[in-house]
Amino acid sequence: MGAYADAYQRSLADPEGFWLDAAASIDWERPPGTALDGSRAPMYRWFPDGVLNTCFNALDRHVRDGRGDQDALIWDSAMTGTVSRWTYRELLDRVARFAGALRDQGVQRGDRVVLYLPMIPEAAVAMLACARIGAVHSVVFGGFAPKELAARIDDARPKVIVAASCGLEPNRVVEYKPIVDEARRLAEHRPERVIVLQRDQVTAELGADDVDWNTVVARAEPAGCVPVDATDPLYVLYTSGTTGKPKGVVRDNGGHAVALRWSMANIYDIGPGDVFWTASDVGWVVGHSYIVYGPLLAGATTVVYEGKPVGTPDAGAFWRVVSDHGVKALFTAPTAFRAIKRVDPDGDEIAKYDVSGLRTLFLAGERLDPETYQWAVDKLGIPVIDHWWQTETGWPICANPRGLEALPVKPGSPTVPVPGYDVRVLDQAGRPVPAGQDGAICLRLPLPPGTLPTLWNADDRFRESYLSRYDGYYLTGDNGYVDEDGYVFVMGRTDDVINVAGHRLSTGSMEAVLAAHPAVAECAVIGVHDSLKGQVPRGFVVLKAGAEIDPDRLREELVAAVREQIGPVAAFREVAVVDGLPKTRSGKILRKSMREIADTGDTKVPSTIEDPAVLDKLRPSLRG
Ligand code: COA
Ligand code: AMP
Repeated sequence: MGAYADAYQRSLADPEGFWLDAAASIDWERPPGTALDGSRAPMYRWFPDGVLNTCFNALDRHVRDGRGDQDALIWDSAMTGTVSRWTYRELLDRVARFAGALRDQGVQRGDRVVLYLPMIPEAAVAMLACARIGAVHSVVFGGFAPKELAARIDDARPKVIVAASCGLEPNRVVEYKPIVDEARRLAEHRPERVIVLQRDQVTAELGADDVDWNTVVARAEPAGCVPVDATDPLYVLYTSGTTGKPKGVVRDNGGHAVALRWSMANIYDIGPGDVFWTASDVGWVVGHSYIVYGPLLAGATTVVYEGKPVGTPDAGAFWRVVSDHGVKALFTAPTAFRAIKRVDPDGDEIAKYDVSGLRTLFLAGERLDPETYQWAVDKLGIPVIDHWWQTETGWPICANPRGLEALPVKPGSPTVPVPGYDVRVLDQAGRPVPAGQDGAICLRLPLPPGTLPTLWNADDRFRESYLSRYDGYYLTGDNGYVDEDGYVFVMGRTDDVINVAGHRLSTGSMEAVLAAHPAVAECAVIGVHDSLKGQVPRGFVVLKAGAEIDPDRLREELVAAVREQIGPVAAFREVAVVDGLPKTRSGKILRKSMREIADTGDTKVPSTIEDPAVLDKLRPSLRG
């Protein structure tokens, strides 16, 4: 039996033994005697009697063990032309001081801290500082509008917000402070303090409740690590669900540390001293797990990149970073490669740099289309590894475990279930389907360590969203199949979540914005195929009887409203005014049929349709 099959079988047959062994790679204040607590099944908890500090494992232990002078973090900002390197000792010092500053602001174990920060080293500092004192961070992506930030503030109820004065996009400087101020105005909850990091590009105005990062750090004493229960929350990260209300995915301390450290060695083949670069954003789960925690838990060097794959300044940006910093493995989303391929189809930019140190390219966040896969393989000549996961799981569900055993790659498949994940494909009635047949991809409970134990303050919503569809299973929301060799193929979401340039968004929340316009009677938003971003949202609105508004003006107003209320990241630019929306006889809008026509030109018209003529009339608008 190969190393993968061996590990996989053991992880399911003896999860207790498997994960207690993995837990030995973590420094515990009190090592766990038990791996899994199933006493409240289907709500499971990992390492119930373990006590640790995640920041200690990410920083202090490496300094203690002689890695203090090794680079922990390399910040490469293509936006400002800056590179800076921080050793483990330096990063520890900054984190301990900022942790002290948070403590001085009254932040204690269990308190929440919302972080609204761009791709700067201080984002990692703030996250680790929270972990150090047992506070719970909740990072909000900079591309979200004040209303989205306010919704997260009201749900997480933070004591403090930490924000930068600005983020940098290629075409503009995004001032963060006015966004934070507007979010505070909109939110019911009042955070006590906002700590503002002033960047050179913008000096934000500070109000009565605001304090300057450097000032509070200068006054602070370094804080030590606060031991926390393995089951204590490390962070809450909001993600899009079917409804407009974001879901607060909870990550615990113990399971997370164990799973991520295991994944660095066994999936990514990254160990102490290796340079690992995840080109994503700290606002997404990929950034949490593989820009900040994973590489640092492994004693590796992480690259924090502020820039884009193209245009900052050109399509050679990724190869420059790989070559300048000796990157061993790069992890990004397929959309980034599609952007590079579009500008530099022959890969001429690659030849300008020494990328010989790059051993593996990992891609995730959306389906890896075969064309992009082939281009990356041809141009880089290294293994290109698709892997599949979600904000909820925090680390890969399916992957080619390169550190454990390099399995043959099948283009179009993220390979096989990772040890700990019991992947099953079920039909409508909850029966397992035969190999090759499509169905709902589910995970048999319990989920492995590192995955979400629940949603923030919402156990019922957690059960209802994920555990209620099939008894004993977690519903991933993706559909697909498993082939005869056990390779998993993930085909797409079964709900109203869409994936735009690797960013997960809810069409439901965009519909709520459109529906609020006084001229709109009803609306639908669907995700349609896009050759660069994978999917983009497209809206369809029906006017209220008697509404008198120029369609062009209406479209402009709707596009502006989505940008204002959800944020630029929604990339909502297309909206059509139509006579009617296709519905079932019970009044449900047939979004799936609309999506199929938009993407493929045709659909099997469901027998439940109320009036097929409405769908026929809509076809030209659906085809764009
Ligand atoms: N703060 C503020 N605004 C942001 C932002 C941020 N952190 N990130 C994106 N935006 C804005 C962009 O400026 C853009 O605004 P615009 O409408 O004024 O042009 C809008 O949101 C849409 O951004 P995006 O979807 O990123 O499109 P893009 O055209 O700027 O770039 C790619 C396209 C493919 C190059 C880019 O999306 C990319 O690099 N994606 C990688 C995806 C990724 O990292 N995914 C994470 C999971 S692995
Ligand atoms: P997020 O929570 O933002 O990480 O998005 C998770 C969703 O992205 C999954 O449920 C999938 O729909 C999609 N996704 C992520 N990785 C892949 C992949 N490798 N292949 C196909 N879809 C993916």
